[in-house]
Amino acid sequence: MSKVINDIRADIDMLRREGKYKKHTVLTGPMGPTVKLDDGREVVNLCSNNYLGLANEPEVIAGAQKALQRHGFGTGSVRFICGTMSLHLELEKFIAEFFGMEACTTYVSCWNANEALVPTILGEGDVVISDELNHASIIDACRLCSKKVTRLVYRHNDTAHLAECLQQAQAARRKLIIVDGVFSMEGDLANLPEIVKLARAGNALVAVDDSHAHGVLGKTGKGTPEHFGVKVDIITGTLGKALGGAAGGFVTAAGPVIDLLVQRSRPQLFSNALPPTVAGGALAAMKLLAKNPQRVTKLQENVAYFRKNLKNLGYEVLDSPSAICPIIIGDTAEAIRIAREMLDMGVLITGFGYPVVPQGTARLRAQISSAHTTEQLDTVMGVFNRIREKYFASAK
Ligand SMILES: Cc1ncc(COP(=O)(O)O)c(C=O)c1O
Repeated sequence: MSKVINDIRADIDMLRREGKYKKHTVLTGPMGPTVKLDDGREVVNLCSNNYLGLANEPEVIAGAQKALQRHGFGTGSVRFICGTMSLHLELEKFIAEFFGMEACTTYVSCWNANEALVPTILGEGDVVISDELNHASIIDACRLCSKKVTRLVYRHNDTAHLAECLQQAQAARRKLIIVDGVFSMEGDLANLPEIVKLARAGNALVAVDDSHAHGVLGKTGKGTPEHFGVKVDIITGTLGKALGGAAGGFVTAAGPVIDLLVQRSRPQLFSNALPPTVAGGALAAMKLLAKNPQRVTKLQENVAYFRKNLKNLGYEVLDSPSAICPIIIGDTAEAIRIAREMLDMGVLITGFGYPVVPQGTARLRAQISSAHTTEQLDTVMGVFNRIREKYFASAK
């Protein structure tokens, strides 16, 4: 065995010794508010992005099946060669109209959409300004920019610091502020009203990655701009969470922005188009959401119920309308151990540690779905109560 492979094995052994090795949970059935595990048990699922319960929805499955019959399994091509199907255009038109934008283009993931957006629209003499807790895909998107693009990072949700960055960027050709609408590890919201105000005054564009807000926030699930009643310039999002839960990402914005992405963005020029089944299922999911805003209302009620009850048990809970509710543990190995104990008690939840979150801030991340019943949420509370008694008895 080569020395390099032995070195890598030692790294893995170290993760095991420190209790930080992630073991995948294997599901033997579909994604839902409860899931079947490969040990035969059915447990309440508290860690899925399936916020609207659409991942196994008959209408969504039918949309995917119809697309499979009409367009087959694969595109066999990137978009600009021969991979553009009428279904892609239909989906993109629907997304743009849903969010009140001029145009849209899709990618195989929101990771790709973010990595497409930032380096494509910015070049020499431009500045990108990013929240320090933005999703890894945004951080990497900024890193992918040409060295001639200035990258500024402001302290999390610190709009005074953002204002300083804008001041520093005053002379730039193009300025782009990019933020998560809902921060994926904290569950808090970007202060969009203030960000938009500063951007307008500083002549900057605002891009929001609303992956965790679409289908979740706003009266009709249009995300953080709808929640706050503000308009942003560019929206990126995933089709892999509330909007069907499969895969795919998009950018929706003014026509010229999308045109440039289609002409120049590397993840679209050099990577296959969204598979027809995924596009068809996602389109059906979006249509279902547009027709049934009451699913969003139900989700928002479940979120409020969950947060209120967790707080009543004595946990420290951020007052946020998002469906992501972290419970801070601190130590990575302990977070993973508690998650395993909760699984033994019938609740699937993930313990996140470094490098997904900063050192010393390991956490359990609870995610709520509109598909959770009150009974299921109460079962979860019973488990959280047992965990509190064992680990945090002094918290109340
Ligand atoms: C804020 C944010 N952006 C982008 C992504 C990536 O989405 P996708 O799975 O479509 O690549 C995620 C997924 O975790 C996310 O939380």
